[in-house]
Amino acid sequence: MPKQSAQREESQMARRVALVNNKGGVGKTTTTVRLAEALAKEGKRVLVVDMDPQGNASSFLGWTWDPAQQQPTISEAIRAATEGAARGAIQPIGWDAPYAERIALAPATLDLETRMSEAGVSGAWRRLDMALEGVDDSFDFTLIDCQPSVFHLTQLALAAAHDAVIVTEADIYAIEAAKRMHAFVTQRAPKDLANPTLAVRGVVVSALKGTSLQTEQRDSIRRIFADLVWDPAVKLRTTLAEANTDAQPLTDSRVADSRATYELLAQAFLKAVPAQ
Ligand SMILES: Nc1ncnc2c1ncn2[C@@H]1O[C@H](COP(=O)(O)OP(=O)(O)O)[C@@H](O)[C@H]1O
Ligand SMILES: [Mg+2]
Repeated sequence: MPKQSAQREESQMARRVALVNNKGGVGKTTTTVRLAEALAKEGKRVLVVDMDPQGNASSFLGWTWDPAQQQPTISEAIRAATEGAARGAIQPIGWDAPYAERIALAPATLDLETRMSEAGVSGAWRRLDMALEGVDDSFDFTLIDCQPSVFHLTQLALAAAHDAVIVTEADIYAIEAAKRMHAFVTQRAPKDLANPTLAVRGVVVSALKGTSLQTEQRDSIRRIFADLVWDPAVKLRTTLAEANTDAQPLTDSRVADSRATYELLAQAFLKAVPAQ
């Protein structure tokens, strides 16, 4: 049964939040993973659903595809087109941190790309919502990391989500893409994806270098998105990029300021995203 017409107690469900932008490389995956981390530290149970065939969220969280094991991924769950099919795809993450047990992952590999061939199949846009049905009830939040697109895989995410968070850099092309995504979420998704209550709850500004040009662009983000913009902006930090590629939680002292930033962003998240 689709989320929108579910008869059961809404309060049993995780709140599902899609992290989106129509441009790549703007910090969507980093924001997804680091918000999951900061929320888990707050005691929240978080499911990360990797909806990008690049699988970066899966690798940042320390998950690796083992051809010998053939672990099920979100791609098989979507292909199944049955209620609750994502249950078999949910796996622990690979971090060594006390709060890591509160984060679980529905991983992706390049195989997710093949789901694109179902884009024209009647009702296929509902398949992630169906696959998660009943599966994420034991989580507080389901964070869905999206690919830089407004096409099928992102539509699957937006059909399953209650909320969207836009991630952008203070860069003119990233902002243009963020505006396109905002328009898609607010104007197209309610009708095309039968999700009339889907709302943009926040805008995260990522990888800020602090140049004067970027400061101007940040001001323009504030003019465009006003109160939707969450504080603080995430500063550009090589140590954060290294923690991502090394699949490490932000426990080391070298990443202390990035850690503090995401802790504050998690507070903004908890204020802006309604509790289920
Ligand atoms: N604040 C930051 N400082 C430095 N590097 C960052 C920061 N945020 C993200 N990155 C790096 O930039 C690249 C793109 O970020 P990513 O989160 O994968 O973006 P997207 O998911 O939008 O494509 C990655 O290599 C990531 O580690
Ligand atoms: Mg990404």
